[in-house]
Order: sequence, then C-alpha cells, then structure tokens
Amino acid sequence: MPRAKKHYKIFNASCYGLKPLKDESIDALATDPPYGISFQNNYWDKDLPDPRIWRDCYRVLKPGAFGVVFSSIRLMHRLMVSLEDAGFLIKDVLMWAFLNGMPKSRNVALDIDKELGVESEVVGRYTYTQGYKKGGAENYYADEGKLKREPASELGKKYKGAGLGVKPAYEPIILIQKPLAPKLNVAENIIEYGTGALNFEATRIPYGAGDEKVGHNPHPKGRVTSNILRTDALGDGYDKFFLVPKVRQHKDDFNEHPTLKPVELMRQLVGLISFDAQTILDPFMGSGSTGIAAMQLGRQFFGYELEEAYYDVAQKRINAAWQDHEQLKLFDSAARNGAA
Ligand SMILES: C[S@@+](CC[C@H](N)C(=O)[O-])C[C@H]1O[C@@H](n2cnc3c(N)ncnc32)[C@H](O)[C@@H]1O
Repeated sequence: MPRAKKHYKIFNASCYGLKPLKDESIDALATDPPYGISFQNNYWDKDLPDPRIWRDCYRVLKPGAFGVVFSSIRLMHRLMVSLEDAGFLIKDVLMWAFLNGMPKSRNVALDIDKELGVESEVVGRYTYTQGYKKGGAENYYADEGKLKREPASELGKKYKGAGLGVKPAYEPIILIQKPLAPKLNVAENIIEYGTGALNFEATRIPYGAGDEKVGHNPHPKGRVTSNILRTDALGDGYDKFFLVPKVRQHKDDFNEHPTLKPVELMRQLVGLISFDAQTILDPFMGSGSTGIAAMQLGRQFFGYELEEAYYDVAQKRINAAWQDHEQLKLFDSAARNGAA
C-alpha cells in the first residue's frame, strides 16, 4: 500500500521571509508570536516580532484570507499597528478568558516597612501552594519565603493589601483579514480563491443543558462562535460561549514549552478561519498546538520554529496527530465499505 503523503511541512528555521512559501498560496494564518514581555525571562519573548514578518504573511496569504494572532494586553496596540501597516484589516479582537491568571505584583505594604527600616510582623507560615512550580509544592517556597508577614509601620498598615496590577483574566487574539482581491465581491473571491468567509457551521457552540430554546429559530448545532472564548464554566449564563479546558504547562511529559496553547482552543480558532483541506500557516509554532489542531481538522499545515528543542516537540506532536487522523480516515472508509 502506498504511504500517505504528510499533510504538514515544518521548518526548524527563522520564519522571516517565509521561504519557500509561494505568493498567495496559504488559506489562513493562526499564530502565537512572542509577546515582547520577556515572559518567564525567555529571550525569544524580549521583543515583539519584526513587523516584516507580517508583510511576509501578507505576501503568502490568499486575498480574503483570515488570520488569528495572539497578543498581550500591554502590547496589543503595537502589534495591531504592525498588522495594519502590513495591509491587513483588523476585524475584531477575540478574548480568551480564563480564571487562573496570576497578578504580577508586589507586597507594597511590606516594601514600605523595609524602606522605613521597620521589621514586618511574622504572623505564621503559608500552608498552601499557589500556582504551578516545577518539582512540585516542596519547591515552591524558598525557606525564608514560607513565613507569612504583615506590615508593622503605620504607613505600611494603611497600604496593606495594595498591589501593582489586576489579575489577568484574558488574552487578546487579533482577528485579521487580507482584503479581497481588487474588484471581487465576497462570493467572487470565494469562487476564485476559496477564502473570504468565516466557517461558522463547523464551530458552533452547543447549547448548555436547558438552554436550547433561545431565540426564534435556534440552530440545531448551537450558537455562532462569539468573540469571548472561555476556559472555565461559571454557571452564570456565560457557558454559552466556547469553553476551553485549562492546559497545564507540562501536560505532555516531553513538552516544556512555557506558553503552550490548548489544542482545543486552537481547534476552535483554526476551524473558524478555514474550511476543509485548506492550508494553515503558523510562523511561530513553538511546540506545535496550531499544527495539531490543523491535523485534527484535516487541514494542511506549514510551521516555523527557531528553537530546535521546541521544533522537536512540535514534530513529535504534529506527526502523532496526523497519524491519528489518517487512522480515523482508514477506519471511516473501512466502515463505509463494510456498510455498503
Ligand atoms: C509564544 S511561543 C508559541 C507557543 C505555541 N503556541 C505552543 O502552543 O507551543 C512563540 C515561539 O516563537 C518562536 N520564535 C521566536 N522567534 C522566531 C522566529 N524568528 N522564527 C521562528 N520561530 C520563532 C519561539 O522560540 C517560541 O517558541
């Protein structure tokens, strides 16, 4: 039996230039680029990407193609300007909402004590573990950090509980589109290139229990995807939006990428901006969540990753997803032949 042709091509190389991709050859862009905030001191997150990558993306995307680009709240505005300068239309900003964000802050009241030369009061020891730490709870606190302290100076007491930043509870995802080809309307553009519309049918959000009787003409598959994507069910009526399970940093034993995105989230996004068998590009693929989503949805995929270690993880994960998809296809066709 001839070996199936792989549906993906990934490069352990810098994405700049997007070699060897041809002009107007890609149907959709889904990427999670460096945020420019030095997340966990990763060198590759020091700066936003050079804007020329967005011009490269513009070159290889077909007219009317959609894209989703993850961003940080602090630097989203700069990224949006770069995308717009490259020629893209800004269509929306989706919010991936979650509950488990940690505020990056300081205990200002204790800092005030220290500045005033006043010894803060020791009131006990922390007994719980917050957040995630490699090696488990035992590694979370340094010895001296286990002590719980309260401000002792008058000014420290006044500022007790003060901090520097609110709890981050969403990440913005910029929805962009390359303009339609000159003089073509949406239908003509789709006929010519296959791009120009969002795929609502494939990405509807199923109704919650008892929630089916909404509106005059509820769609059997659920609601149209909204611009809020959530990770946590709160039971507060917001469940009608897409729910994405949380992803642990080390979900796969071999995957230590610090900014791993949930495959479920990428599947929803890739499903929204593309149609069956189309080609997806991720110039900053990291450990490959976009590629896995593409394989699971029967899309083609091109990805670039500079770091060899992340590339190797991506290769392993994407190949496994492709093989699973091929198995499913074989299984489906065997079932169809058996039924015939
Ligand atoms: C935010 S991470 C992507 C994580 C990915 N979403 C995942 O689920 O694993 C961005 C990635 O871009 C890579 N990167 C940075 N500059 C690059 C470049 N010029 N070309 C290709 N990859 C680059 C970094 O090494 C990093 O892995």
